[in-house]
Amino acid sequence: MTIAVVGATGMVGSRVIAEARARGHQVLALSRKPASDDPNVTPVAVDVNESYAVREALAGSAPNGASNGASHRAADAVVLTVRTLPVDQEFLVGATRTVLDAAAQLGIRVLVVGGAGALRSPDDPDLLVADNPVYVPAEWKTVAAAGIAQLRACQAHAGADWVYLSPPALLEPGDRTGHYRRGTDTLLAGADGQSWISAEDLAVAVVDELDAPGPERLITVAHRDEHPSA
Ligand SMILES: NC(=O)c1ccc[n+]([C@@H]2O[C@H](COP(=O)([O-])OP(=O)(O)OC[C@H]3O[C@@H](n4cnc5c(N)ncnc54)[C@H](OP(=O)(O)O)[C@@H]3O)[C@@H](O)[C@H]2O)c1
Repeated sequence: MTIAVVGATGMVGSRVIAEARARGHQVLALSRKPASDDPNVTPVAVDVNESYAVREALAGSAPNGASNGASHRAADAVVLTVRTLPVDQEFLVGATRTVLDAAAQLGIRVLVVGGAGALRSPDDPDLLVADNPVYVPAEWKTVAAAGIAQLRACQAHAGADWVYLSPPALLEPGDRTGHYRRGTDTLLAGADGQSWISAEDLAVAVVDELDAPGPERLITVAHRDEHPSA
């Protein structure tokens, strides 16, 4: 497969690229300033606010800086894993619609790495994680709300083949174990109550989902073991 990663330089995006390459996939690395010395990773400089450029990049008709204007291969699937600091909900929803529109036109699958806030609380299915102070302190509420708006943009989109992956409450760089638990619309937590995964293992889950797509549109993953700090 050729997998396009929008947000290629990010914590998650860079690990998705490493995982995809380790499994022999080709990668299109999309961000505003991407770079790679791997010949199987094609950097394509794209601002996700520019819908025409995003479509060209996914279609394989964007100029490839590495080969002097020649086009590159088209994507078979696209991973959207962008964010801004501070959070910008309008940007996030707009970027998501742009990628969904382009992917629908090209007939390719989209995996959105979103937020944990869109999930149900493990001990209260009627309470979204975004509204649960156990998982989302007040200072993170706007970030969690943006993630929910991003999921709603996916749900409202007619025509795109998408899956929204909500990380657990804690997502941070760590080790690649290759193991994780997979769920659907409810936050996963271990026996110790910790809801976490390394970005490396999240990347394993992302590429697993692209290699063998499941039927659900909202999925989540978490680590089985105690957090290393326990
Ligand atoms: N527990 C949780 O729910 C949780 C925790 C962490 C992260 N996340 C989610 O995981 C996803 C990825 O997060 P992350 O930590 O990997 O983010 P990150 O490290 O901040 O990376 C963000 C990426 O977005 C790209 N980007 C930003 N603006 C762009 C634009 N206008 N055009 C193109 N690319 C743009 C950046 O590339 P350039 O700046 O080079 O363009 C960068 O590659 C996000 O959806 C985030 O909300 C969830």
